[in-house]
Amino acid sequence: MPTNRTFTMIKPDAVSDGFSGPIIQQIEEAGFKIIALKKIKLSPEEAGKFYEVHKERPFYQSLCDYMSSNDIIPMVLEKENAMEDFRTLIGATNPANAAEGTIRQRFAKSIEANAIHGSDSDENAAIEAAFFFSEKELKN
Ligand code: CMP
Repeated sequence: MPTNRTFTMIKPDAVSDGFSGPIIQQIEEAGFKIIALKKIKLSPEEAGKFYEVHKERPFYQSLCDYMSSNDIIPMVLEKENAMEDFRTLIGATNPANAAEGTIRQRFAKSIEANAIHGSDSDENAAIEAAFFFSEKELKN
């Protein structure tokens, strides 16, 4: 995947609360182009695979249950400096520490139900995008 792309997913709390519209609007207004998008419900096993890197963390089981509790909206986004700019747009993992106006400050409920995911490196963005989208879907 080109390095001007990143991966995100709108998480179950934000989708079921009806915040996917305003979140996507904020992403587009910040200059990101949507390359691929779908709505999907993960099984607990799939959520576990996606977050395997956190397997040893105390919150892993709860995170997998939460991420498979309802639909999510994974997306691949394009913009210059995409990964870093997107992490600035979403704010800190814990919404209590997220800067004013960031997506997590506006829409997240807790450190777990934090509304949205953003890849933390170009390498992980490519791996995470390939988890949800085929090469053909990422060809745009
Ligand atoms: P995300 O950026 O998607 O990456 C890992 C996720 O684990 C994180 O967002 C939160 O949803 C969750 N998470 C991270 N830290 C904690 C924590 N201390 N307690 C519960 N969940 C957490």
